[in-house]
Amino acid sequence: MTDASPTTVLSAERLHGSLGDPLMEVMNFLNEVTSRYPDAISFGPGRPYEGLFEVDRIGDYLDAYRRYLAEEAGHTPDEIRTLLFQYGRTNGQIHELVARALRNDEGIEADPRSLVVTVGCQEGMFLVLRALFADPADVLLVSSPCYVGITGAARLLDIETVHVPEGERGADPDALRETVAALRAAGKRPRAFYVVPDFSNPTGSCLPTADRRRLLEVAEEADLLLLEDNPYGFFTRTGTGLPTLKALDTRRRVIYLGSFAKTCFPGARVGYVIADQHVQAADGGRTLLADELSKIKGMVTVNTPALSQAVIGGMLLTHDFRLREANKPAADFYQENLAVLLDRLDTLLPRERREAAGISWNVPEGGFFLTLALPVAADNDLLEASAREHGVIWTPMNYFYPPGDGGRHQIRLSLSYLTPAQIAEGARRLVELLERSCL
Ligand SMILES: Cc1ncc(COP(=O)(O)O)c(C=O)c1O
Repeated sequence: MTDASPTTVLSAERLHGSLGDPLMEVMNFLNEVTSRYPDAISFGPGRPYEGLFEVDRIGDYLDAYRRYLAEEAGHTPDEIRTLLFQYGRTNGQIHELVARALRNDEGIEADPRSLVVTVGCQEGMFLVLRALFADPADVLLVSSPCYVGITGAARLLDIETVHVPEGERGADPDALRETVAALRAAGKRPRAFYVVPDFSNPTGSCLPTADRRRLLEVAEEADLLLLEDNPYGFFTRTGTGLPTLKALDTRRRVIYLGSFAKTCFPGARVGYVIADQHVQAADGGRTLLADELSKIKGMVTVNTPALSQAVIGGMLLTHDFRLREANKPAADFYQENLAVLLDRLDTLLPRERREAAGISWNVPEGGFFLTLALPVAADNDLLEASAREHGVIWTPMNYFYPPGDGGRHQIRLSLSYLTPAQIAEGARRLVELLERSCL
């Protein structure tokens, strides 16, 4: 860009290094292709289906929360006015309600004082990373391929990230142990391991209970914290699911990153962290990690918006603190989408044909995503051709690996944002692309 007017020009080189990192722009190409081909069917976004939202309900939830403040919590009208209109408690005002839901939905006994209500799970990641990573030798380990929200946050904070390859069932405890040993031998300090055990983004894998227990053992042996992120756990056929790491954690090894984006709605931007670890000061005094996160949060977002908390609090109250049950219709919807996608792929690409061509996919039991492996490079060029010539969009899996280091032949298909009819048509178009490029 050339501009002769005497405006201030900043040198990109003097901005924070993360801003020039390809990681920070990883989803841009996908967004740009989506805007150029608006009629294409997109398996790209991991957003919840909007047909499940009702605008009128927002007022009902707000009312439910207001009634709770007056009738159950015993607040006066003046206090309620303050709670809804003012700056609020840094770590949130619905922490007790969230703790009640966690007990019902996940069997997690969380002391409300150990909860930090955040601006989405994303802020939770940022707070936790800022607090835990103090030394340049500290390393964040991530189960790989990995959600870019955490690697992006780490990059913003200049935290070194090391990818630990997943096995077919998700995070690999043995690979974690070996990576920790190798890093220690190289003089590094592995500090925490980030993992999405339930229907991970991007692969859709779900970690078996035995591996969850192994992860906890490895974390204990290696003196590592586990950062468990769990936005998709409710979206299963049975609606019950496996125990979270946090529910299995008896030694406070797990910092749990919660999100209401998929179980309530993302527009509220409300999430939370369970940070129940004790922190010992040099003078022997003890605090909770949540208290330390509060200091950071006070300097980042001050507090999570009271109105957003009120609506989410109202949803928890309305659904009797049972979001898993309340999400049954959503879970059924996503299950149908998953079934349609798997059925269409299977019908259009029968086993013998796809095996001969080197095409395969995993069969998740829930969640928003599945992985398709191809014999050809699934890169931006193929994505462009896919959108232009076949009207179908997907996410190259290499977006979720370090640049140039994995996922070259895989794509992520997200099934959450489409209707069953769109999924069926999208699958037909996708197979058309595959017919042309690899069959
Ligand atoms: C694994 C994972 N964690 C966190 C988030 C975002 O959570 P929030 O919207 O609460 O910041 C997402 C959203 O796509 C996700 O896939």
